[in-house]
Amino acid sequence: MKGDLSDQVVVVVGGTRGIGAAIATDLAAAGATVFVAGRDLDAARGVVGAIETAGGTAHGVACDVTDAEDCRRMIDTVAETSGRLDTMFANQGVARRSRNLVEWSPADVAICLDVNLVGCVTLARAAHRLLAADGGGRFIVTGSGSGHRNVAGLGMYGISKAAVSHLVRQLAIEWRRDDIAVNELIPGPVRTAMTGFRGDGDGDRADNPMQVFADRMGEWLKEPADVAPLARFLAGLPTHGPTGQVFSLAGRV
Ligand SMILES: NC(=O)c1ccc[n+]([C@@H]2O[C@H](COP(=O)([O-])OP(=O)(O)OC[C@H]3O[C@@H](n4cnc5c(N)ncnc54)[C@H](OP(=O)(O)O)[C@@H]3O)[C@@H](O)[C@H]2O)c1
Repeated sequence: MKGDLSDQVVVVVGGTRGIGAAIATDLAAAGATVFVAGRDLDAARGVVGAIETAGGTAHGVACDVTDAEDCRRMIDTVAETSGRLDTMFANQGVARRSRNLVEWSPADVAICLDVNLVGCVTLARAAHRLLAADGGGRFIVTGSGSGHRNVAGLGMYGISKAAVSHLVRQLAIEWRRDDIAVNELIPGPVRTAMTGFRGDGDGDRADNPMQVFADRMGEWLKEPADVAPLARFLAGLPTHGPTGQVFSLAGRV
């Protein structure tokens, strides 16, 4: 299987389901060697199996981004297996919907920041040297429209994603000299487990909060595979190309 990414080694963290699984599958179809990472190794292996059945090359890696040692081990595995890393997607995320900010428990605040924000810092720290080797690379973080415009009910989630957006610009400045492009991918609303859609009809109800939000905002409520072309585009950009930028599929201003 050959495509425009056939020379690339890509890691998709949060690749075990939803948007990340769709990105991993699409990039493998474009010829990339893809490492599918997340806490659920069985789910990662499921995505890898589907990629291999379609003729692609992929590996499953267990990685909890709240564990720095895990992130380091994952990058060691990539280095030992493939000897390089061209593009990392820091796509992992957790959300707690439909609560007022002050109703978030300290534990929920902590996990939201640990996974969505600190996890990106930990991944960046672990991956920097390998990304910088052999002419640079790309670090692409999945942001959210709620990080750019406040949305009632999303509480700490939007705040964590606003910080992620700032992190992207910070890393972009610091990593320019290493030819590592750092950009933010905003998917807009997508039907995944995070938004209460499970692909088996469960959650496919008119009163699903994401459905209501999309209807109210005139948004494009996507399937995970609809996000993949933008991810593929970003993975195909030159490492000295755009950096510190926001690339969005959201349909609202
Ligand atoms: N769906 C939307 O409408 C939407 C809109 C805007 C932005 N986003 C963003 O898109 C990204 C993907 O979301 P999704 O909708 O596809 O959600 P999802 O189906 O719930 O997938 C979330 C992914 O994050 C991984 N993850 C969670 N905690 C992790 C941890 N501690 N360490 C490593 N991986 C972890 C999960 O893997 P494991 O459980 O295996 O660890 C899973 O692969 C997130 O960053 C989300 O904030 C989604």
